[in-house]
Order: sequence, then C-alpha cells, then structure tokens
Amino acid sequence: MADTSSALTYSDIGSAPRELWPVVLETRGWKDYRLLDMGAGEKLERYGRFTIARPEPQAMGTRSLPDSTWSRADAVFTGDTDEEGPGRWKFAGNVPETWPMAYGPVRYNGRFMSFRHVGVFPEQAAHWDWVNAKIRAERQKAPDKPLKILNLFGYTGMASLLPATEGAQVTHVDASKKAIGYARENQAMSGLEDLPVRWICEDASKFVAREVRRGNTYDGIILDPPKYGRGPKGEVWDIYTSLPGMLSDLQKLLAKDALFMILTAYAIRSSFVSIHELMAETLSTQGGLLESGELVIREDKGKRALSTSLFSRWSSR
Ligand SMILES: C[S@@+](CC[C@H](N)C(=O)[O-])C[C@H]1O[C@@H](n2cnc3c(N)ncnc32)[C@H](O)[C@@H]1O
Repeated sequence: MADTSSALTYSDIGSAPRELWPVVLETRGWKDYRLLDMGAGEKLERYGRFTIARPEPQAMGTRSLPDSTWSRADAVFTGDTDEEGPGRWKFAGNVPETWPMAYGPVRYNGRFMSFRHVGVFPEQAAHWDWVNAKIRAERQKAPDKPLKILNLFGYTGMASLLPATEGAQVTHVDASKKAIGYARENQAMSGLEDLPVRWICEDASKFVAREVRRGNTYDGIILDPPKYGRGPKGEVWDIYTSLPGMLSDLQKLLAKDALFMILTAYAIRSSFVSIHELMAETLSTQGGLLESGELVIREDKGKRALSTSLFSRWSSR
C-alpha cells in the first residue's frame, strides 16, 4: 500500500497544510476479498466464498481469465453501467441472502444490495488501516486521552467498527435506518457490542450543523458521501452543492489537536484535484499535510490496478 506519510512529522497549526498529489492508495485484497480479473467493461471479484461479476466502466482492457471462469460466477449484476444505475442480480445457484466475512477483528455480512453494492467497499481498506495506525500511535502516546471519531455516511459501519476496536469513541451517522441496522448486525456478529459506537440515523448536514452549534469537536473525521442522497426527512444531498458547506462546518468540528480528516468521492464528474482544492481551502490554517489522489484495487496476480474512487485526506502528523 502506498502510504507516503507514515515516516513524516508535520503540523504547524495556523499555516496552510503541505500539499501532496497524486497519491495512489492501493488495496491488494485479503482472505475474504480479491479482484480476480477485469476487462470488457466488467470486473470479477471474490467476496468470501462467492465470485461476483459486475459492470465496471473503468475496466477497459482485456480479460486475463477464460470465459469459463467468468461464466462460473455465483452472482452477476446486469444493467446500467453507470455506478449508481439500475439493474438486477442473477444467481447461478442457491446463494444465501447474507454471508459472513471478516477484516481483522471485524466480521461483516455480504449481501446483494440494489445498485450492485455487496455491503462493503474493499478499496476503503487503505483508509481503515491508515486510520487505525493513527489511532494506535496516538493511544501509545496518550493512553488515557479519549479519541473521538466522526464517521459520516457510514453505511455498513466498517469505518466505524474498526477504529472502535483500537479504543476510539465513534459517532456513526447515516440517513438509512436499514443501513444502520446492517451496521449494528456487523457489530453484533463481531462480538463487539461493548464498543463505544453511537449509531445516529440523521441527515449528515443537519447533524454536523447541530454539532457546530453545540461546540462539540472530534479528533478524526471520515466522510464518504454519495453523489446524491436523501436524509430521513427527505433532505437533499448533492455532492457538488452540499459538500462545500459541510466541509466548512467540519473544519469547525476538528479538535485543536485533531489527527485527521478523510474525504472519499465515488462516481462524480470531478478529478481528485477538485476535491483537493476544496479541502485545501477549508483547511487553510490547519497545518499538517494534505494528500489527494485515487483509491485503487490491485488485481489478484498483481498485474493491473483498478481505479475506484477519489480521495483527499488531511493529517496533523
Ligand atoms: C456509498 S455509502 C458510503 C459507503 C461507506 N462509507 C462504506 O465504505 O461502507 C453512502 C451512504 O450515505 C447515506 N446517505 C445518503 N444521503 C445521506 C444524507 N443526506 N445524510 C446521511 N447519510 C446519507 C446512505 O444511506 C448510504 O448508506
């Protein structure tokens, strides 16, 4: 994994962060996840014991594995090639509604969701590891200091449960009751019910604005907003128009000695440069280091990398 920052020390609050781009953060897969092949507009992955084929416009090259391997996939998503477009799942045999997988101490269920999702975004593993390393280092320095993490648009909870296993107190916000239910299921099946995670079903912008009014702060902030979304009361989220205001509020929520803020963006007509510049503007007196680029997944045999999303992340050190 290309982590360019771990050996460096920075900070300098009051000045602009140092800037670094392009940074490519690579996930190579783990026991329960592999990118097996890609090409001809599709990707073939293994999630736990199931192989899954899905449309992937970024997979423009030629497939390496034979058609016979692709045609043995347990589940195939057909339909719109647009990331969030409609379509449907087709199953080869008896596939359960959910199946268990694990990443480190966290167990999670795979499930065939609408819009082609399967309950986890494997490329996020680069962020999970980075966040946990930051928390671990901080807790070694100050074991008794509580570390508060805010995870917005938290979906099925991996980015909430993993930092909690390192001792962080996590606030997880998502607009979907169903998604929060899945996240809590993951917590229960991991046997981690005692971890201090607050599950909040609310519009992310509203929650953040209220936290600013209350004067609350966080040591780390993670946000993985969709392109478009709705809060529980129909509040509209549009990344192009809603993100600037949210980042400006989030800057106010960073504790004086905050550790990090990570933004990921999927399927938008922007480059990492655009989200980098927005973060740089928002964090212009924060010191530290601001890195931006892409999250990619390396193929099983290591030959090619698949681009999945854009990110921009700030760290104080
Ligand atoms: C693509 S998922 C994020 C993926 C997640 N970070 C992960 O890696 O598992 C987007 C999430 O944003 C939530 N969402 C959409 N609009 C929202 C809003 N206005 N406020 C809060 N959450 C929202 C959705 O319910 C969904 O769970």
